[in-house]
Amino acid sequence: MQILAIETSCDETSAAMLRNGQVLSNIIASQEEHIVYGGVVPELASRAHVAKIVSVVDAALQRGGVDKHDIELVAATHGPGLVGSLLVGLTFAKGLALSRNLPFYGINHLEGHLFSTLIEYPHIQMPFLCLLVSGGHTILAVVRDVGDYEIIGQTIDDAAGEAYDKVAKILGLPYPGGPAVEKLARQGDPGYVRFPVANLKSASLDFSFSGLKTAVLYHYKNLSEDAQEKHRADIAAAFQQAVIAALKKNIEVALEQTGVQTLTMAGGVAQNKTLAAALQQLAAAKGCDFYSPKPQYCADNAAMIGYAAHLFATKKRPFSNLSLSAVPNLPLI
Ligand code: KG4
Ligand code: ZN
Repeated sequence: MQILAIETSCDETSAAMLRNGQVLSNIIASQEEHIVYGGVVPELASRAHVAKIVSVVDAALQRGGVDKHDIELVAATHGPGLVGSLLVGLTFAKGLALSRNLPFYGINHLEGHLFSTLIEYPHIQMPFLCLLVSGGHTILAVVRDVGDYEIIGQTIDDAAGEAYDKVAKILGLPYPGGPAVEKLARQGDPGYVRFPVANLKSASLDFSFSGLKTAVLYHYKNLSEDAQEKHRADIAAAFQQAVIAALKKNIEVALEQTGVQTLTMAGGVAQNKTLAAALQQLAAAKGCDFYSPKPQYCADNAAMIGYAAHLFATKKRPFSNLSLSAVPNLPLI
C-alpha cells in the first residue's frame, strides 16, 4: 500500500510517501515568515501553504521514488489546527483522491503524534502510555489500540511548548522558544531558584504551566538589568527543571496506576534532550521501556499522518468521506 500523506495544520507544509508503513520520504517546508512576528500569523501561514503545497508534494513523490499514478491512498490532517492552514492540505488531498478515484483518510493530528514513535519502533506493543507535548497540547494518554485512547491527564491552561515559547519571550530569545531555552539552560544552574510545580487536586494527573510562566516573569522583572543578564541561563535551567519535574511527577503515578510497561513521548517538545533523558531514567527506574521519535517525527510532519493512515488501513477502518471538513478544535477522543 503506497500512501501519500499531507500535513498543514500549523506552519509546516509537509508531505510524505509511505510504502507498507515504511517512510520513503518526509518533506517538511518550515515557514520562516513568522519569525519576525514572534509567533505564527494564521493568514500568512495559509498563504504560504498555498504557495508551497504543490512543490512539497512533488518533492515527496520524487524523493520517495514513486510515480503519482502509483499512489494507492491519500491521507491528510483534518484537525486540530488553524482552519485556513488545515483547509489547504485537506482540500489538496481530497481533490487528488477525487480526481484519481483513490481512497482517502482524514487524520486527527493528535493521533498522528500518538503513533509517531511506532514509525521507527513498530514492535511497540499496545497498551502504552504516551506523553504528547507540543505547542498546543500536553496530554498523557493510554493508547490501547488504534482508535482506543484514554486521556488520563492534560493541561488545564498552557501547553508545555507554549510555556517554553512564553519564557523564551521573557528572556529575549527568538521564536520558536523551545530549542533556544533548552540550549541556554545547558549553561545554567537549575538549582539557582526553585520555581513552583503546580499542585492540582491530589488525584488529578492534569498539568498547569501558566503559574510557572508567571513566576518566571515576576522573578525576571524583579531583577536589576545586570542580574537579568547574569542569570538568564540560570532562569532557563530552573524553568526547564520545573517543567520536567511536573511532567515526571504525573507520569510516575500514571505508570503505577495503569501498570503499562511502555512509555513514549511525542510532539515538538519531545525534541528536548534533557526531558528525554529524564523520562528515560524514570522509565528505567520503573522497569519500563521508553521510546521517543527522532526530531523530524517529533515536530509536525506528514510521515506521522501517513503512519496513522497505514495503521487505519491495516485495521480496515472505513475510509473518510470526501465531504469531511477541517475541524480546528478536533479533540483526540
Ligand atoms: O508539535 P509541534 O511542532 O507543533 C504543534 O503541534 O504545536 O510543537 C511545537 C512546540 C513549540 O512550542 C516549540 O517551542 C516546542 O515545540 N519545542 C521545544 C523544543 N523544540 C521544539 N520545546 C522544548 N525543547 C525543545 N528542544
Ligand atoms: Zn503537532
